[in-house]
Amino acid sequence: AKSEQGQNAQLAPASAAVAVAKTLTILYASQTGNAKGVASQLAEVAKAAGITVNLKNVADYKAKSLKSETHLLIVASTNGEGEPPDDAIEFHEFLLGKKAPKLPELRYSVLALGDSSYEFFCQTGKDFDERLKALGAQQVAPRVDCDVDYDEQSQEWSLTIVESLKDELTQAAEGLAPVIDLPVTAGAASQYTKQNPFAAEFLLSQKITGRDSAKDVRHIEIDLDGSGLTYQAGDALGVWFENDAQLVDELIAALSLNGDDKVTVKVASESQELTLKQALVEQLEITQTAPAFIEYWANLSQDKALLAVAEDKNSAREYAANHQIVDVVKAAPAKLSAQAFVDSLRKLTPRLYSIASSQAEVEEEVHLTVGVVQYQQDDNTRTGGASGFLSHRLEEGQKVRVFVEHNDNFRLPENGDTPVIMVGPGTGVAPFRAFMQQRDAQEAQGDNWLFFGDQTFTQDFLYQVEWQGYLKSGLLTRIDLAFSRDQAEKIYVQDRLREHAAEVFAWLERGAHFYICGDMSRMAKDVEAALLDIIAEQGQLDESQAQDYLKDLRNAKRYQKDVY
Ligand code: 2AM
Repeated sequence: AKSEQGQNAQLAPASAAVAVAKTLTILYASQTGNAKGVASQLAEVAKAAGITVNLKNVADYKAKSLKSETHLLIVASTNGEGEPPDDAIEFHEFLLGKKAPKLPELRYSVLALGDSSYEFFCQTGKDFDERLKALGAQQVAPRVDCDVDYDEQSQEWSLTIVESLKDELTQAAEGLAPVIDLPVTAGAASQYTKQNPFAAEFLLSQKITGRDSAKDVRHIEIDLDGSGLTYQAGDALGVWFENDAQLVDELIAALSLNGDDKVTVKVASESQELTLKQALVEQLEITQTAPAFIEYWANLSQDKALLAVAEDKNSAREYAANHQIVDVVKAAPAKLSAQAFVDSLRKLTPRLYSIASSQAEVEEEVHLTVGVVQYQQDDNTRTGGASGFLSHRLEEGQKVRVFVEHNDNFRLPENGDTPVIMVGPGTGVAPFRAFMQQRDAQEAQGDNWLFFGDQTFTQDFLYQVEWQGYLKSGLLTRIDLAFSRDQAEKIYVQDRLREHAAEVFAWLERGAHFYICGDMSRMAKDVEAALLDIIAEQGQLDESQAQDYLKDLRNAKRYQKDVY
């Protein structure tokens, strides 16, 4: 921020202090890029209103300069269990810690992004907001907490903020050209974005778990030819999908409504008239249920059992996680209009899949490893919205709407000689297939160690032939496998890590990068705990020293997670 403000001061006819006071600082704390996207849009809006903007990833922001800010907006995502995104851990620690300065001169607002199916919904945004308030800063506008369908609310918040700050920030800046250029957002090379996805050809879908597996995992190939879309190993592919028309019919019948009824739905912030059926197939979320819907439906139906569920936040969240909208509606019948029903649902949002290929190997293609979400609900098999679309409904040769979501928090080391340790059980192995393709193409000399796990060797060893080929060629230095159900006692990837504690630590000591991809709520936590134990034991450190060791790894971008 310093140099940019310095530039301002040079051009300013008034004193440097005044020039500094005119900057609107926008910080984003992003894990997968959503907060970054919202912050960049906000910056555009502010710039268009003549405001001088300093847009920054919170990771690149010196927390000490908070004292000299006058206007601060924070767009913050929350990781699943209420933790800040990796890039924001330091800033979060500083702001919430004892050394944070009083900020009576500061005016601020926070936009919090989250997922209401998690207990600590929008926690990072709440933390920032409450702490800034406690430090004496004044809110320009109240914090807004957004769920996964955040577009409308975030746009509204941005417009409100810019409207209320415009006068004070531009009047003071009269005669002062806005000299700070926005950083070019990643992916700008292609015209295709989340809001304007590319209709890509669906090339191939192949089941890669065995016939007797408990799971249905697909290897999927999509053609990006002609899109200009590019990606790096570690990026994710955003996939838009349509709901199952049969499921929609079942839902409409359960509601005793008519699929031809007209409803109004906001599409890209414009109201559109659609049939109920169209709206439910194309525009609204029906395979994921938010706790807010449980509460709404309990009150509407006055169903005793559902009212009891809705009363307690934890039980509502759990119930939502195991029930699609149709099952809630069937369990607790209620009458309402087509429009009222549509208004009670969230907008459909695309799903992000970690990319399983490298362009160095597959060029214009992109590969995914998709676990099909499937469970029994009474007599029905319920299937995940996007995974069901990709595995059951989309046919080869048809089009699927996609975009690339860049993830600078999950990258191979720049130096090909640097060793890497990859922990990716289940579909978490996807980005490591991309990593190996990339290292292979680059003829990188660094050692590569993969920890893979799943239920059984014969049914669930994803990409077995490829890993064996890489072992043979020497690209893959080691592979350690944890098949949890091939013996009486469970064996998990973290157990394999512990078994090889001395070597894992030796790899870290010689500069290895350590990656985890896959299940967040259990696996990633247990692997991190194992890693901390290994560091403490092998490095002869106490718990807090081991924590510091891991923190240093994280700061050096040598400990990266892609978990969900
Ligand atoms: P399980 O279902 O047999 O218990 C990929 O899904 C693999 O992750 C499965 O073998 C699964 O084992 C395993 N898994 C489940 N919980 C885990 C945990 N806490 N840590 C690591 N792996 C886990």
